[in-house]
Amino acid sequence: MAIRLHINIDHVATLRNARGTRYPDPVVAAQLCEQAGADGITAHLREDRRHVRDDDMARLRAAVTTLLNMEMAATDEMVAIALKLRPDVVTLVPERREERTTEGGLDVVGQRVAVAKAVSSLVGAGIKVSLFVAADEAQLRASRELGVQQIELHTGEYCHAPTPSELTKLREGAELAHALGLEVAAGHGLTRHNVLEVAALSEVTELNIGHALIADAVFVGLPQAVRELREAVLRGVARRPRGA
Ligand code: PXP
Repeated sequence: MAIRLHINIDHVATLRNARGTRYPDPVVAAQLCEQAGADGITAHLREDRRHVRDDDMARLRAAVTTLLNMEMAATDEMVAIALKLRPDVVTLVPERREERTTEGGLDVVGQRVAVAKAVSSLVGAGIKVSLFVAADEAQLRASRELGVQQIELHTGEYCHAPTPSELTKLREGAELAHALGLEVAAGHGLTRHNVLEVAALSEVTELNIGHALIADAVFVGLPQAVRELREAVLRGVARRPRGA
């Protein structure tokens, strides 16, 4: 497949934490997603540990056989955890305590010193780094200058208002990032409906999808939800221009 599908299992932990039970276990969810064809597992260890917790991350590291993508803020605490945990990929994301979910992309231009420090520790330890950024030229160029291998385009605005102009922004961002030599991932707010147009962008090689997939799983079960999402992604990929 021309595109990797990574499933974010955070909201299995959200459901567990709502009642303080041991179930549903995000690690079991990760294994079911892998068995159903996910190419990787994504989890966001937030400062407030509102969904996955340190122990979940350690158990995910031990159980995941595909690829583990750890989303985290560019803080000293998180970098220390990542260096010990050794996920396959770290995606640096902005984080504010009061937000409901990750709002906006990382300000690589404005926070350059802090981001550069985290990137250099992680890359120095041999961990692939991806920066979660808006499809903005200055942010993409700054990401390239920091020497990361990948960026993840924030698709939240497009998913909120799927207009031609938002899609054009994503397309131009993906083209520029690719031209700069960066691998291009995309994520946030994607569903089995709106993912088609994003998967149709030839430069996109990875998708990170969580909330909508877990919501679908409530009705159809996790394996079926992953399979349906993968089919939707493949329908999007089929729309790519020939040869892309
Ligand atoms: N990619 C990144 C970098 C994210 O921070 C998130 C949310 O944790 C996602 C993808 C997944 O977003 P959603 O849960 O809306 O699919």
